[in-house]
Amino acid sequence: MIAIGSDHGGVVLKDVIKEYLEQNGYEFKDFGTQKDVPMDYPDIAETVAKAIVSGECSKGILICGTGIGVSIAANKVKGIRAAHTTDVFSAKMAKQHNDAQIICLGERITGPGLALEIVDAYLKSEHLGGRHQRRVDKIMAIENK
Ligand code: RB5
Repeated sequence: MIAIGSDHGGVVLKDVIKEYLEQNGYEFKDFGTQKDVPMDYPDIAETVAKAIVSGECSKGILICGTGIGVSIAANKVKGIRAAHTTDVFSAKMAKQHNDAQIICLGERITGPGLALEIVDAYLKSEHLGGRHQRRVDKIMAIENK
């Protein structure tokens, strides 16, 4: 299950991504916000991040105006690795190397065509494990220092 959420600055791109998910047979849960309903980006980032940590969802897509606010906020939730992605290569690496559970996009930065390629690349990538897992473990160990 994929968790998706945005603030009011990302709601148009969220709807574009939801359509892509539907058309490609992905199961997802929309945590909001909806058109014309203001939402502070830390609130939606925390909600989506907690859906990952609880196990309700295995991957997440967060959108705000830039992608920056939601990524900073989501990474404050213990256990979360959220990657701010603006290109296809980074989206792949976010999963293959960093095992990011969440990607973050900016509606005011990335157009819908590229955004869908980013989402597609991320969802089709797998974590490579091995030396990359060791490094991911070191990231997570920082939380406990
Ligand atoms: C909301 O206006 C805007 O600040 C937000 O969407 C995002 O860009 C924050 O990082």
